[in-house]
Amino acid sequence: MPDDKTTTPNLPRLRGFIADFTRLVERHGDDEAAVLDAGRALLAGLIATDDWLPDAYAKPDPVHYRQYLLHCDPYERFSVVSFVWGPGQRTPIHDHTVWGLVGILRGSERSQRYDLQAGGGTPIAHPPEILEAGAVEAVSPRIGDVHAISNALPDRPSISIHVYGGNIGAVRRSVFDPLTGQRKLFISGYANTALPNLWDRSQPVPHAA
Ligand SMILES: [Fe+2]
Repeated sequence: MPDDKTTTPNLPRLRGFIADFTRLVERHGDDEAAVLDAGRALLAGLIATDDWLPDAYAKPDPVHYRQYLLHCDPYERFSVVSFVWGPGQRTPIHDHTVWGLVGILRGSERSQRYDLQAGGGTPIAHPPEILEAGAVEAVSPRIGDVHAISNALPDRPSISIHVYGGNIGAVRRSVFDPLTGQRKLFISGYANTALPNLWDRSQPVPHAA
């Protein structure tokens, strides 16, 4: 019998995370600090084991980083997204306008925060941080919302799992010119048109004894 442990994604793990996060926003959705605090622990738990992300949501594109929607809350209180970065790929400097959590699942990413100057001008860069697999960082308009992320690996993809306080692909937000700070509005959308099927319970739970 073939060993399917490497090919069958452990979707119950993702389903459990979504259930836990739904409970969290039910209870604390109006308290951003509480959501980020408890959400960080939930996301750290999800990315601690790399056995659940289906291959279709881990595929890099040769040119651009990919943003795959994994789940959106029916009331758009939060969304869960897989970001896949090929070698050398990076985001522009951008904001979110809602809270966000970034957890590294595979590889390594470089996170560069910025402060915008009142009245425009070159965004002021903080020291860059290298985030390794297992690390989680938070953004929001309250704690610092402007950054750029890139793949820190020159030779293979990196993947991070992001959770945002809204349907992030539909949120109107901004990118900023690195020299002038000039703002340009964008709505990111998603790379996928179909979501992982979390609800087929006819299969045995992967990795069950
Ligand atoms: Fe971001």
